[in-house]
Amino acid sequence: SKNIVVLISGQGSNMQAIVRAARDRQWGRRWGARLAGVVSNRPEAAGLAWAQAEGLPTVALDHRAYASREAFDAALIQAIDGLCPPGPFLVVLAGFMRILTPGFVEHYAGRLINIHPSLLPAFPGLHTHERALQAGCRFAGATVHRVTAELDHGEYLDQVVVPVMPDDSADTLAARVLTQEHLMYPRVIERLLAAG
Ligand code: GAR
Repeated sequence: SKNIVVLISGQGSNMQAIVRAARDRQWGRRWGARLAGVVSNRPEAAGLAWAQAEGLPTVALDHRAYASREAFDAALIQAIDGLCPPGPFLVVLAGFMRILTPGFVEHYAGRLINIHPSLLPAFPGLHTHERALQAGCRFAGATVHRVTAELDHGEYLDQVVVPVMPDDSADTLAARVLTQEHLMYPRVIERLLAAG
């Protein structure tokens, strides 16, 4: 079956949207897709508890326990592939806040996607909403892209645009973008499943 593993670091609201879409839109029946598990680099991530309560396999892999990025990423590969040997159809980064090594990216070449809360190529990296407001942008948004070794690069699979309101704070803008992320990310995954 087409196994999907989702990687999170925090609340996991995108992961929740994906889990709900998989269920509501019958990804299993239609494409033999299966959510094989959720992995977090933060054991205390709220999304991990949510996934566990949903009955999904979960793995907590505390990056602070590893001496190097390479060691952490090697353990991460073992955890991900261990959920669905020999490995998943798709690895979905959903608010996963760790930079991945070239070795990790290579291992999942063509099977690794990310959602980033800006209209790339504008604002790669962190604090995207603060920076969009600072720059005086009239529009903001989010991008789903394939992951390459270069941070927040790789083929864009979809983008969504939202207006910036005059009285926006980073938080109100982030919330408006996040609502759209929840619609876009499952849609992209569904398209990848359909494409086989
Ligand atoms: C989302 O806005 C996502 O685009 C962003 O973190 C948030 C996670 O929310 N990702 C990044 O900034 C990646 N560098 P969630 O945990 O509720 O899905």
